[in-house]
Amino acid sequence: MVRQYFIFGFLSLLAVVGCTEDPVDNAIIDDQAITGPSAPTPYALEVPAYFPAPIVDPENPITEEGIELGRHIFYDRDILSSDGSMSCASCHKQELAFTDGLNRSLGIRQLEGGRSAMSLVNLAFNPSGFNWDGSSPKLWEQAIHPVEDMLELDNDWAEVLRKLREHDDYPARFRAAFGIDRKEEITRELTVKAIAQFERTIISADSKFDRVVYQNTDFFTEAEQLGADSLFFVENVPPGTLHPGCGHCHNAPNFGDNKFKNNGIEDVASLDDFVDKGLGGVNGNRFDNGKFRTPTLRNIALTAPYMHDGRFKTLEEVLDHYASGGHNLENEDPNITGFTLTEREKEALLAFLNTLTDESLLTDERFSAPR
Ligand code: HEC
Ligand code: HEC
Repeated sequence: MVRQYFIFGFLSLLAVVGCTEDPVDNAIIDDQAITGPSAPTPYALEVPAYFPAPIVDPENPITEEGIELGRHIFYDRDILSSDGSMSCASCHKQELAFTDGLNRSLGIRQLEGGRSAMSLVNLAFNPSGFNWDGSSPKLWEQAIHPVEDMLELDNDWAEVLRKLREHDDYPARFRAAFGIDRKEEITRELTVKAIAQFERTIISADSKFDRVVYQNTDFFTEAEQLGADSLFFVENVPPGTLHPGCGHCHNAPNFGDNKFKNNGIEDVASLDDFVDKGLGGVNGNRFDNGKFRTPTLRNIALTAPYMHDGRFKTLEEVLDHYASGGHNLENEDPNITGFTLTEREKEALLAFLNTLTDESLLTDERFSAPR
């Protein structure tokens, strides 16, 4: 009873003091509040008619403000890495079709990661999970990991959020993208969702292949035509023929079916001996050891070195691998058959692969660092 009496007395004293002060000084100033526009504008992806419909993520609708916020974060070294030295774009460089030119990526302090950076084009069409092994089912969820991976940006999400909330510019951008009212509503989930919205807009469909085959505004050279008709695609191939048959797995228009396969690169004694188990490491299924997602070959001339571990430096080496026919492990895909190519055929297949480069992607300002 005594204590309550004292508290009551203290409060009434405060009330008296309050009444004597200027009411403006007394107003509660909420330093968490964000002002500015809060109605995001829906955005429809620009997809050529001959592409499949992009996969819609009902948990993360794309808006103009979300894309713009995501682009800013994607390129922001100070926000993303613990020492301010790297952003997503350090390993996913636009001029290399969003790869880094290394066999295995280097994170901050030059630490070497386990795999080769993937191209980020046409992610909106991948139904199979992200990363070489499909370990991230959702695109937005994927972006959580590079930020905290010791061998990548080595940051702490609490620190990322603190910087975003204290920033002069980002709180208003989060409000514009997600309609939030307070800085504390800037969360890890909204941050990676904005990044994913930006990533989904990176669509590559302006290669010579597109112009020749779908738009009828260009022509293949004789070599490119031979590469397409007789070597890469499988439509004209009699069953049972030994043939490159790249199109079995790298089919148009995305040139990667996103399915998990063992394409025979690893010479191991048994399914238990893969250094990197790929899909098997994710789902624990032994028969999936050594299976990786068939990636797109769009812009392949720009994304060397090749495979999940960057083991092949050139496309010639890649062709030599497929021609040799793998290592007869029981889970190797049946379409890895081995074949022989004349010098002319090899050049033709390489010429065809070079038609998949999309020059406009490399300088498209919508995908570049904000100025
Ligand atoms: C240190 C280099 C590095 C940095 C920094 C980096 N990445 Fe990556 N990225 C990689 C590597 C390596 C892979 C393949 C990972 C795997 O398969 O385990 C990858 C894969 C991806 C994929 C999967 C693509 C696909 O087709 O499945 C996406 C998406 C991606 N990164 C986005 C990002 C984003 C967003 C950031 C910034 C938040 C980022 N990356 C930062 C190296 C990096
Ligand atoms: C049985 C399916 C299959 C066939 C057929 C196939 N590939 Fe692949 N390809 C894959 C898979 C799976 C990967 C990823 C393997 C890895 O990284 O471990 C891959 C990776 C690649 C890469 C590396 C891509 C990158 O981003 O690093 C290139 C280049 C490539 N294939 C070209 C070809 C060519 C050219 C042919 C025809 C001679 C061909 N592939 C036939 C399934 C196939």
